Amino acid sequence: MQVPFLSTHIYHAEAVRATMNNSTPEMLAALEDELILAFEDEVSELEKAADNDGWFRYPADAGLRIVSRSASRAMFGIGLCRNEAFNKLTIEFSLGFAKAGFAGMLLPNSVRNVLRPLLSRRPRESAKRITEIMRPELEKRMRRLESNLKAREEGRSGDIVPLPADTLSCLIEETHKHGPDHFTVENIAGCCRIYSFVAIHSTNLCIFHSLLNLASLTYQQDDGQRASYVPSLRDELSEIYASEVLPTATSEARHIDHQNAPKLHPFSKGWTGAALDGLRGLDSFVRENLRMKMQGPTSLHRTVAADGGITLKSGLHLPKGTFIAVPARSIQIHESNDPDAAEFNGWRTGRPGQADKGDAATTTSSTYFPFGTGKHACPGRFFAVKEIKLVLKHILLNYEIKEIEPRPKDPNLFVYQIPPTRGVSPILLRRRKVQ
Ligand code: HEM
Repeated sequence: MQVPFLSTHIYHAEAVRATMNNSTPEMLAALEDELILAFEDEVSELEKAADNDGWFRYPADAGLRIVSRSASRAMFGIGLCRNEAFNKLTIEFSLGFAKAGFAGMLLPNSVRNVLRPLLSRRPRESAKRITEIMRPELEKRMRRLESNLKAREEGRSGDIVPLPADTLSCLIEETHKHGPDHFTVENIAGCCRIYSFVAIHSTNLCIFHSLLNLASLTYQQDDGQRASYVPSLRDELSEIYASEVLPTATSEARHIDHQNAPKLHPFSKGWTGAALDGLRGLDSFVRENLRMKMQGPTSLHRTVAADGGITLKSGLHLPKGTFIAVPARSIQIHESNDPDAAEFNGWRTGRPGQADKGDAATTTSSTYFPFGTGKHACPGRFFAVKEIKLVLKHILLNYEIKEIEPRPKDPNLFVYQIPPTRGVSPILLRRRKVQ
């Protein structure tokens, strides 16, 4: 299950940075298409259990499948993302991997090394099966890369067939540069598993928190009355769609429609990067969810690697091997940042229709750590925030969200605030009537 070069080489992060910092229009269109298809696939099942008024529960595991399938589409291509076994194993692997990690942390040192192989048995099996499913696609692309490089060397540019423009191709190219030990199916599939692990849970949890907050939190209007965020966010979607979204077909899948799908809101499709960036209110709302709900007590976990250790400006010396972290949650909610920093304020960094920009959800700083900060800040954050906005956009346009009073508490998982994803979901959706 190990990915041997993960701690010594950072091409896995480079490939994400190269393809996801500025997703191409094609990548974004593929992500949006797959999200809509996956969402409607899930809802067609969930609606079977709707009550007489049409409300159905939206469980976190449905969200996980939607996020996993659509992220796989953008990162690995249409073949793998539509492979049910691949999707199932990917989710199984990342859940098992996380559980094994947490369980391992709880064990005393004396038995940890003995029990670790047992704890990781299931995820190791899933990992092997994922590699076998990926193998034909990986070998095809690896062979194509080699023959393209040969053709370039021999001046046969007409024989070059470009690889699909996604994260997987970029990763294959990066591993090739590092030599035959790295350019293997096992290593490349291992990096892809890591992507799935880091990409799907956090994104889904953030969406789940956002839905709970949309259902239960309000803001104070200028007249002093409290109001739901939902109508303002819907108005913003309509305004931006009218001014920013071009009705162009940018991906072949744009023409695939879900065969059983009821009519969707006319503004559901075609959202460009610029249009998503223009959603100032939604961006601020997502940022506030990340700030208040997606931050563990600490961030920037690092181990001092320099042989002689490091000495901080304060004179404190940290020997090699010292484990350090920043008390991120306390910093984020400290009043020196904002007098009401400990409260949820969905319009903290922007409001619908507001032109001047506060910090974006993706802007890291020394007071905002959900994606870390500095050299190792999450390279997938631009993609993650786009994906979160695309899901919320689809739900806001096409579904009503039932109010919840009060907001259910987040059970603590160790020191993390995980939304109530187990048991009966508190989130109820109902299809909106679309003209
Ligand atoms: C809401 C969703 C996400 C959250 C909250 C999140 C958060 C984080 C955090 C806190 C780090 C560590 C940063 C540090 O130590 O300074 C990280 C690293 C990383 N994330 Fe994300 N992430 C998310 C989504 C994604 C996605 C969609 C991808 C895409 C594959 C991704 C890929 C990575 C990678 C490759 C690293 C390691 C970077 C390195 O070591 O240089 N993440 N993420």
